Amino acid sequence: MDEFERHGIGVVTGRDACARALRSAELTSDPGGGSPSVLLRDGEDHTRLRAVLREIIAGLEPVPADLRTSIETTVTGLGTSFDLVRGFARPVAGAVTSALLGVPLDDVFLDHLEATTANLDVFGGVDRAGQASAFRLAVQLSRTPAGPGGLTALREAHAAGRLDEDELMFTPVVLAHAAYENSLNFLAGAGLQLATSGPRTVRELVTAICPARYVLRFGPDGPVAISLADGLPFGLGRHACPGSGVAVAEGEIALAALAKVLAVGCRVGEVRWKTHPVFHGPERAVVTLASGDG
Ligand code: HEM
Repeated sequence: MDEFERHGIGVVTGRDACARALRSAELTSDPGGGSPSVLLRDGEDHTRLRAVLREIIAGLEPVPADLRTSIETTVTGLGTSFDLVRGFARPVAGAVTSALLGVPLDDVFLDHLEATTANLDVFGGVDRAGQASAFRLAVQLSRTPAGPGGLTALREAHAAGRLDEDELMFTPVVLAHAAYENSLNFLAGAGLQLATSGPRTVRELVTAICPARYVLRFGPDGPVAISLADGLPFGLGRHACPGSGVAVAEGEIALAALAKVLAVGCRVGEVRWKTHPVFHGPERAVVTLASGDG
């Protein structure tokens, strides 16, 4: 919270006050400056862009059989000792993001995608490395031949006059980041809970972990950070997460498979948490299965 105050950002907490703020017509997601990102605008342009994204996300509802199999194969193939972030959450969130866009995504791509977090920074996007990563991915995706899926759908929407040039350039990265970052942090945090305190439903876990801690809005009295930690993990109102169904389904598949892997018993060590004020999740958490103790 100090971090926000230091930057002159007000903070709203408590479920009712946050729900009201998220639904308020006085608070906008648009900081000005004409960003092409769906997350940073409101009004008709936001509605138009969001409708295209909803159509794309619907392609993963329900989760296609080959994506389900690929998630289960990844988790079943975890060795006797693995990092819940790099070994479990990253390949699962990466597979879903890849299926969403309809393009293969390698480790270099995912490294840059994680670096763009800084670029979505609530404090004015002063992180040049994060901006360079986001730009690099935008250029890379603009040159990537795409199969059926989100990238092709965005190109078709552009051809049909539903997206302008800038939106076509940046929406693939914004969508990839939205699908990847929160899921990565959620899956790693949920895996850690599973390993240390036993089973809970995915809905309970996502509320408890709340990987996106705050959303930023701009009002008559300046910027405000609205807390999502009091039971609103997917937000609310005009920008409420359109991928929540996919996120929950992905969590159910991956965490059910992980629960089977952990059933032999395990130890957890080297737990470190990220320190980002908005994106919350483990940095590293190493699980060693009982059978791997030697
Ligand atoms: C546990 C995982 C996830 C969490 C906690 C989460 C949370 C959120 C939250 C809180 C917002 C609202 C931001 C705001 O109000 O400014 C949001 C927006 C969004 N999310 Fe998710 N999300 C998750 C996974 C996903 C997935 C898997 C997808 C895609 C399949 C996705 C796509 C999006 C998009 C496109 C937006 C922008 C919506 C808009 O601005 O209108 N998210 N997400």
